[in-house]
Amino acid sequence: MKLAENFLWGGAISAAQTEGHYLEDGRQPSNYDQVPLNNQRLKAVYQDQVPNLMQPAKKEIYPGRFGIDFYKTYQADIKTLSELGINSFRFSISWSRIFPTGEETEPNQAGLAYYDAILDELDKYGIEPIVTLSHFEIPLHLVKKYNGWASREVIALFVRYAECLMTRYQKRIKYWIPFNEMNMILHIPFIGGGVQFTTGANNLETQYQAGHHQLLANALVIEAGKKINPDFQFGTMLAAGKTYAYTADPKDVFAAVKSDRENLLFADVQVFGAYPNYIAHFFEEKQIHLDMTDDDQAILKANTVDFVSFSYYSSACTSAEDKDLETVATNGFTTLRNPYLPKSKGVWQNDPLGLRITLNQLYDRYRLPLFIVENGLGTEDELDNDQVHDTYRIDYLREHIKNLILAVQEDGVPLMGYLMWGIIDLTSVSEGKIAKRYGVLYVDQDNDGGGSHRRYKKDSFYFYQKVINSQGASVFE
Ligand code: BG6
Repeated sequence: MKLAENFLWGGAISAAQTEGHYLEDGRQPSNYDQVPLNNQRLKAVYQDQVPNLMQPAKKEIYPGRFGIDFYKTYQADIKTLSELGINSFRFSISWSRIFPTGEETEPNQAGLAYYDAILDELDKYGIEPIVTLSHFEIPLHLVKKYNGWASREVIALFVRYAECLMTRYQKRIKYWIPFNEMNMILHIPFIGGGVQFTTGANNLETQYQAGHHQLLANALVIEAGKKINPDFQFGTMLAAGKTYAYTADPKDVFAAVKSDRENLLFADVQVFGAYPNYIAHFFEEKQIHLDMTDDDQAILKANTVDFVSFSYYSSACTSAEDKDLETVATNGFTTLRNPYLPKSKGVWQNDPLGLRITLNQLYDRYRLPLFIVENGLGTEDELDNDQVHDTYRIDYLREHIKNLILAVQEDGVPLMGYLMWGIIDLTSVSEGKIAKRYGVLYVDQDNDGGGSHRRYKKDSFYFYQKVINSQGASVFE
């Protein structure tokens, strides 16, 4: 098999990490705007813990509030990105720009006008929009009033928001991703769903309940969307990455099976329309009693996704027992350091073959077209004489792109496209810093938002341009 002629080569960003101007033109704050840049960032889910997310402190820096100024720079940025030859671009819409508190009955016209303008720009260069409706964002008002996605009330509000956009953009947007990385609700619940914990409660139950509400919302959005335009295509969005067993000990292998299942649960429901058998015992063991009605189950069954989109940064590794093994950070959680993977520049482990393994795992399991909607290397770059010689990023991209092409050519995986994450430098979710850079476009900005904000093409810009122009062939040269 060859890469499809209409293979989607592109890049991806999110509103929360780029737009800034968080109170402009009627927008109100979201959960993400409350998360400060400090080392408590990802742990900050207990209401009684420091930092108190509901009472921002003057001394803290809040990257969600300034992003990379994309609210103002989108025209120039899209123009520069179009020089890469990309034919697709994934961005997210900020719920609180459209329904600032989440509870309005009429949308904010200024918010809609902003996304109209982004679509106009993309149109100008023949770039297909891939739109995420919720990329780690929920209006702060809904966090305060309902504890975010922990409450069922939020479902109808989200569906209203989605319907408004799907109606307005029925002729302009074909590919919709209702939620970014739904499995992140299990790792970073405040960012993934505006969910805060209460001391002494069964917080794991709250996380799965919030996930169930997102699954229902996802299904209801698909139901509404297919009525608006039957050609709409909906995708899941899973933070993927095969979990390896640390050894061939069957106990380690089974631990890896269980870890993969935890990761794939939400995608399983989105693809198959029902919770898998394996989860019943886990829920029993953890005393998780989901509030799930017969109607809920019928809704899930009737409205499944059309494609499986996912992010891939690294594989994971696990063992059955805590053997005092070295751990390392990965996307949203920690995992064992895999002794077979060389240490690389960048915090997360670098495993290009792991992408091919993951593509095979997902296609074997789901038999739906796959779509890589995030992949990239986050690390520090140096701007020297207006240039960035990011050979490490070029190596990362080359090896990952090689593996995705081999997955298509040799393994027969149907792949819709490849969107590089953080195609333009943006503020990192896990670290909050822009210093963890992903882009092929460098943004001259500091972690506190200062700097000239000028954009510079890195060496990886020209590398990716060549990859796209050659339909991937240049990675084998
Ligand atoms: C994914 C998210 O989890 O990983 C992105 O969808 C995020 O929003 C990306 O930026 C990389 O993670 P980080 O923590 O380096 O920003």
